[in-house]
Amino acid sequence: MAAATTYREFDPKNMPFRRLGPTGLRVPLFSLGGWLTLGGTVVGDPVKDIMKVAFEHGINMFDTAEGYAAGNSELEMGRVIRELNLRRTDLVISTKIYFGTRKGVNDTGLSRKHIIEGTRASLDRLGLDYVDVVFAHRPDPTVPMEEIVRAFNWVIEKGWAFYWATSEWSALQIEEAYHVADKLGLIGPVAEQCQHHMLHRERPEKEYAPVYKRYDIGTTVWSALASGLLTGKAGFYVDLIRSVVLTEFVYDFFKNTLQSLNEEEGHQKIEKVKKLTKIAEELGCTTAQLALAWVARQPQTSTVILGASKPEQVIDNLKALDVIPKLTPEVLEKIEKVLDNKPSPEVVLARLPLDPLRP
Ligand SMILES: NC(=O)c1ccc[n+]([C@@H]2O[C@H](COP(=O)([O-])OP(=O)(O)OC[C@H]3O[C@@H](n4cnc5c(N)ncnc54)[C@H](OP(=O)(O)O)[C@@H]3O)[C@@H](O)[C@H]2O)c1
Repeated sequence: MAAATTYREFDPKNMPFRRLGPTGLRVPLFSLGGWLTLGGTVVGDPVKDIMKVAFEHGINMFDTAEGYAAGNSELEMGRVIRELNLRRTDLVISTKIYFGTRKGVNDTGLSRKHIIEGTRASLDRLGLDYVDVVFAHRPDPTVPMEEIVRAFNWVIEKGWAFYWATSEWSALQIEEAYHVADKLGLIGPVAEQCQHHMLHRERPEKEYAPVYKRYDIGTTVWSALASGLLTGKAGFYVDLIRSVVLTEFVYDFFKNTLQSLNEEEGHQKIEKVKKLTKIAEELGCTTAQLALAWVARQPQTSTVILGASKPEQVIDNLKALDVIPKLTPEVLEKIEKVLDNKPSPEVVLARLPLDPLRP
């Protein structure tokens, strides 16, 4: 008879949990992702150190993707889950399908073939029977929406994932997915994994507003620190580009960001970060903690996915939980003045304002 596994017990500590959008699934307000770091710039025992510290501080949700380090992120994170003896029911694991691990003609995108083969391959790399959430990592306008919705529903029917969700889809594409799912009596996406931070607000706060209202989708926020810019540390992109094994996509992403920082708009962003650092100092926290607390308190945020190259960053960033209550209306107003980028509300022409006294 095989010896019973002694699992590492999960203690949520002071981590708040939220529902993932309209679902019954509870996710920690801060989770941990493996984009550039886990399996990429960080491999071996240091991956274990980072995930262990996260788990010990109440993070039980881990996010990865088939495309992260060409599958190595899933391999490394899966290995660590086993080595740490984490109980599967304690964990919320998400992965994402689209970018593939190689460039074969059907090895990327959202065809039924790749969604099904890709999810199967992700599970093999993770060494798991199922993930909790599978995301469509990008939209694929070359595939009929019905094929995409049916394929993700098939994955759910097979028990390979409990929910499916989108990442960086337009509001129109999310709307279409719901429409098709509704027409076919199938399950629609429950969350959107979107970039949302103090310097990137238009899409998550304005474009998605109607789909939040209609379907109550939650967001699993990525790059809450603008890949490090909102930590206030100097020269971070240059360091990153030097250290990362660049895929074409990652290279383009950072090349464009780096270029934009050298332009007027970029200079303005850096000035804003300096002013935010002053506000953070007044609140007795770091710029990173302020940025994380700010996005965590956004109404549609289900979880903020942290990225980290060292365990200390996880511990440091989780102190954002203590900053959330400090974000009073006055502080938020001060931040709003610095950011000066609040998306404008939808213009309503030729109508008197509705009753402002109605709660
Ligand atoms: N769906 C998507 O398309 C998508 C896209 C991107 C990311 N994601 C997900 O979101 C996760 C987080 O994204 P991200 O890595 O861009 O997040 P981020 O929080 O914006 O940046 C994380 C990076 O900032 C630096 N950092 C973090 N905490 C710090 C601290 N306290 N002090 C100084 N530097 C600090 C670290 O980089 P260094 O130490 O190396 O400088 C770390 O790797 C990813 O792992 C992934 O799971 C999803």
